[in-house]
Amino acid sequence: MGIHFQDIKSQFQLDPAVTYLNHGSFGACPLQIFENYQYWQKLLEQQPVKFMTETGPAQIEISKKALADFITCDKDDLVFTPNPTYAINIIAKSLKLNPGDEILSTDQEYGAMDKTWNYYCKHSGAIYKRFHISLPVSNHDEFADKLLSQVTSQTKVIFISHITSPTALIFPVEKICQKAREMGIITIVDGAHAPGHIPVDITKMNPDVYTGACHKWMLTPKGSSFLYVKRTLQSTIDPLVISWGYDSDHPGKSQFLDYHTQQGTRDYSAFLTIPAAIEFRQKFNWNEVSMQCRKLVKQSLPIFSELLGSPPLSPTNDEWLGQMFSLRIHTKDSVLLKSKLLDNFNIEVPVMSYHGNNYIRISIQGYNDQSDLDNLVSAIEKLTVSGDLTVGDHKDHYIV
Ligand SMILES: Cc1ncc(COP(=O)(O)O)c(C=O)c1O
Repeated sequence: MGIHFQDIKSQFQLDPAVTYLNHGSFGACPLQIFENYQYWQKLLEQQPVKFMTETGPAQIEISKKALADFITCDKDDLVFTPNPTYAINIIAKSLKLNPGDEILSTDQEYGAMDKTWNYYCKHSGAIYKRFHISLPVSNHDEFADKLLSQVTSQTKVIFISHITSPTALIFPVEKICQKAREMGIITIVDGAHAPGHIPVDITKMNPDVYTGACHKWMLTPKGSSFLYVKRTLQSTIDPLVISWGYDSDHPGKSQFLDYHTQQGTRDYSAFLTIPAAIEFRQKFNWNEVSMQCRKLVKQSLPIFSELLGSPPLSPTNDEWLGQMFSLRIHTKDSVLLKSKLLDNFNIEVPVMSYHGNNYIRISIQGYNDQSDLDNLVSAIEKLTVSGDLTVGDHKDHYIV
């Protein structure tokens, strides 16, 4: 028997009064997985010492194995972090950057990551080089070639999103990693949006470093992310927080695991929910749910493009798009428009100002259906009449 939309929707804890079209920012956790989270938290409080020293660490291994199988890598090459920014800070701190070294990236990266690289470049004299991506993009091969043409003898690292935050585009990270490897350049992939959203196969991609969030599209509670580092680089990675794992009195399997696993007292229950999240996905046939969401993306994008007078940022296909899409939106005040959508229409959807353009990013998750998109269409029509936004003319609106 098939699973119906209402069965899926009822699994989530979202306020039914809100049209929720922003799974991308912080995810949303189904009750069943959230209860597993609370189960671990209660177990911790029943016997904190036993949990912190025995049950928890054993359970972390089970969770890491489940995650490693999900993203195809070895569990001993993974450590948990609260979020991807934390993971990239570990890496940026550890790279021995010299004056003039270049970190080649794009102008589509997440703001907190830009700040991290700016900080470490400022302190080392290295250069954070953000290659301008001209929109619309056309195909993955051309994109990878253009980015790689920016490599110079100073390029030490390529840092790139797997799926971008402002524009919701899937980047060709596998090809970029392959070419960079041939050129001896370190690859660091920000996959915050990828696990549980699109297939992630770390072994096939073969990056040097990959970080992803489980609390977005894998549906775990917040504060559950990971850092993967290729075995040959692990000994060069310093802990962000110096704790008992540094110069450990009881060394474990590797320095990498010692340094990044013991980080002072913290509640790591969110990490332990990964097996429950994977089980949930299997129970509700999430591959099928995801496919339905992608279908809705492809149906809706042309409608919103027409409504906003704004051309698509990429071809509308599986190469570039998963369960989110962004379009340029013409408004003088993105913050005001975002709050009007929520305050006047009960619609949660991000409107982001990015490098001089405003974008609306629409996420479609299993709990969304056509009625959510219809609500947004109707709100946009009303806001156009009231002058809060204007309709573009489909010409090239992008800053090139
Ligand atoms: C591309 C990208 N990287 C990283 C992040 C992670 O952010 P944080 O570390 O603040 O959870 C996000 C969050 O939306 C993102 O979109």
